[in-house]
Amino acid sequence: MPTALPAEKVVTLRDGTPVRVRPIRPDDAPRLIEFHSRLSMNTTRLRFFTPMKRLSAAFADQLSAVDFKKRCAFVISSLDFDDIHAVGRYEGESRHSAEVAFVVEDSFQGKGIGTILLDRLVEHARTKGFDRLTAVVLCENLNMLTLFRESPYSPEITMQSECAFVKMNIAVPGPAVAAPKRRPRSLAPVPRLRTAEE
Ligand SMILES: CC(C)(COP(=O)(O)OP(=O)(O)OC[C@H]1O[C@@H](n2cnc3c(N)ncnc32)[C@H](O)[C@@H]1OP(=O)(O)O)[C@@H](O)C(=O)NCCC(=O)NCCS
Repeated sequence: MPTALPAEKVVTLRDGTPVRVRPIRPDDAPRLIEFHSRLSMNTTRLRFFTPMKRLSAAFADQLSAVDFKKRCAFVISSLDFDDIHAVGRYEGESRHSAEVAFVVEDSFQGKGIGTILLDRLVEHARTKGFDRLTAVVLCENLNMLTLFRESPYSPEITMQSECAFVKMNIAVPGPAVAAPKRRPRSLAPVPRLRTAEE
């Protein structure tokens, strides 16, 4: 039986812009290609670990075809159009653990979208029985690491060579889709960084 699509939500970004957090659809493939063409080389490199000028049609089809159980993706769109400004996704890697990845259009970065997408993915992943999210991030990617460190999901971060391996515990219910406010730095739990040798 096909799974019902997860709910679409309207959220307000830090700059006051209202946007929709909506489940991705197969017909988003051309919009994903268009979205990707607007990304800077640095943003594609941080997302895919290699600069990727174009997203192929085959890859776009693959990224937009999800089952919302083992594979899930939400996109950020304007209120009136289905245009794409950001994507957050998870891929199940075992029954209880899934790997997350995010990409936000350059001019939309720093407005709270990454945090909103993480919280939306957590909210959905919990309903599918996942209790752990993981991520692999380049060590230089301080924006992504800051987002994870300041999240309420008890992140454990292990550095190994050029990559940071992140594990988050999502078993304990936390906030639903985040209020698009910055989390106060003074209250944010900052976990100890571990090296691979520990
Ligand atoms: C990493 C990324 C997903 C974060 O998304 P975002 O919407 O910019 O993140 P947020 O606005 O929720 O910010 C999260 C934290 O990142 C930092 N940050 C993000 N963008 C920033 C910017 N342009 N300037 C300064 N700080 C920034 C801030 O420290 C912020 O913490 P705060 O909430 O305490 O201020 C986004 O920058 C991106 O797409 N980067 C390129 C692709 C990538 O790195 N993907 C990750 C691979 S898994």
